[in-house]
Amino acid sequence: MKTYIVGNWKLNFTVGEASIYLHKLLRKMSNYRDVEVAVAPSTIALQPLSLQVDRHKMKLCAQNAFYRDYGAFTGETSFNQLRGVADYAIIGHSERRYIFGEDDKMIAKKVAAAVRNRISPILCIGETESERAFGETADVIQDQLVSGLMDIAEDDIEKVIVAYEPVWAISSVKAAKLATPDEIAEVVRMIRQILVETYGAEKGEKVPILFGGSVNSSNAGAYLTVPGVNGLLVGGASLILSEFTGIIEVAKRVRS
Ligand code: 13P
Repeated sequence: MKTYIVGNWKLNFTVGEASIYLHKLLRKMSNYRDVEVAVAPSTIALQPLSLQVDRHKMKLCAQNAFYRDYGAFTGETSFNQLRGVADYAIIGHSERRYIFGEDDKMIAKKVAAAVRNRISPILCIGETESERAFGETADVIQDQLVSGLMDIAEDDIEKVIVAYEPVWAISSVKAAKLATPDEIAEVVRMIRQILVETYGAEKGEKVPILFGGSVNSSNAGAYLTVPGVNGLLVGGASLILSEFTGIIEVAKRVRS
């Protein structure tokens, strides 16, 4: 399985800034067989960047889209419109769940819409600080994972990536804490077990599981060597070129 390094730029960078960043990033990158790199700019930047990106070196990821392909949905962009523009799409990020009120049902529809439009969904799941404190982590993971994948055909699981992002470890959250390798390993084991139970060992073992939450170039090595972790979803550090390229270098080292 490849190692995935995905930079989630969130609501940062104008189109011009995104283009300059991508230009610099592409210059620093070569083609790595075992490390798949993607960046997720704002929707408005996806189309121009898709003309600029060298897909042999890296891929583009959407941060969000709507599950209906077209119709009376003012203000939305569909996965259908992103077909061929984005290779991946982050779906179910905690910021979508808690700031924009997306529930598991909507997230499931978005996962299905992405798959239908040949975009690989990166389904984000993760417990909040209080859910962890109340011992609800396993239930939350089970619920978010199973319901997020509810609307896709069994065979389509091979297009899906799962990202474990404990909400309390995201750098922008007040008093964010670093997740420990043991905490991550435990949840990643649960995720793998659910995938294997639901889809069988052959398919369930192949789904990449990424970790996200305050990842930077100094801790990337520790997180990438957590048993069961197949890559990283990087927020804040992906906005700093030297940090992001540092993380990619670490991924290459870990894989070689
Ligand atoms: P940080 O890396 O800034 O904690 O963000 C994580 C995240 O939300 C990526 O999707």
